Amino acid sequence: MIKKIKVKSPANIAFIKYWGQKDNQLIIPYNDSFSMNLSACLTYLEGEILENKEIKEVFIKDYKKENFLKANTEILNKIISFYSTAKKFLNSKKDFGFRIYSKNTFPKKSGIAGSASFFSALALFFATAFEKKLNQKQLSILARLSGSGSACRSIPDGFSWWRKGNNNETSYAYSLAPPNFWDLRDLVLIVNPQEKKVGSYEGHQQATTSFFFKFRLKELKKRLIMIKKAFFKKDFSLFGQLLEEDALSMHIVMMTQRPPLYYWSEKTFSLIKKIVELRKSGKMEGYYTIDAGENIHLICQKNDYQQFIDYFKEQPEILKIIDNQPSTGAKIIEII
Ligand code: DP6
Repeated sequence: MIKKIKVKSPANIAFIKYWGQKDNQLIIPYNDSFSMNLSACLTYLEGEILENKEIKEVFIKDYKKENFLKANTEILNKIISFYSTAKKFLNSKKDFGFRIYSKNTFPKKSGIAGSASFFSALALFFATAFEKKLNQKQLSILARLSGSGSACRSIPDGFSWWRKGNNNETSYAYSLAPPNFWDLRDLVLIVNPQEKKVGSYEGHQQATTSFFFKFRLKELKKRLIMIKKAFFKKDFSLFGQLLEEDALSMHIVMMTQRPPLYYWSEKTFSLIKKIVELRKSGKMEGYYTIDAGENIHLICQKNDYQQFIDYFKEQPEILKIIDNQPSTGAKIIEII
């Protein structure tokens, strides 16, 4: 019998964002999304499997903290509910207790998709603990069902495409290209490591109240086709323009939904201007994207990234820079 499972899984940054849920039980999105797994934003999860099925314990070590602390009730309930979802999805008769230890290499809930790395790792842990061999598509579906939909994009390697689908079987992510297809970099410019106030789940529910939402979906049809072409041609200027447009389009929805969500701060805006100025000057070519937080993801190519780091580490807004390359998806490290 398996006693312990160690897994790791990356966060991902979306070039085309997922915002709004057509079905908030099955977590079916309104549109396809497209992302890259991040080599330096990882969750390491170690879970003991216990015979006493009453024990369901989770300990989390936050970024830069010394100790593991008991997960709060909200997170624990979400994990226990995902355990039941996984059991049902996997059609298992088995029941077990667990004691999970999870740590992140980056601050969670600050727009770096901390729940995507955590829940994709948890999906792999549960599938292994229930002793079910899942293919990548099935594992991605299971990760989606965790409630943190973008977790499904952290399962396949490298660059992931989440096909929106229209039911449980057809909504999943697959690898569009392996990590070594294109040496893009995502420099996460951290201006605030604090947790965000409104989680994505609540935000998704209100997306359709924005007057801009329908327009976003309409223009997304074209943008999805164009970005895929730009990606395979490695046309960085077009690729960057499209990913920036998409981030803006999602944030316009966020800011115009009811109640509105303003994730940006003055620091976010100040960095946006700097990235655009550097680009105009012809010195360095980078594009920004922003998730549900105030930190910026600066997307650039290998030849510019060191220059960008040297420039941004001197800027007063920045507390830390995380330097990411494309990475593999969720992986088992060890089964004991
Ligand atoms: C703004 O519902 O997957 O990051 O559970 O908070 O990780 P969390 O979020 P989820 O929504 C992610 C929304 C987004 C855009 C994206 O990653 O596509």
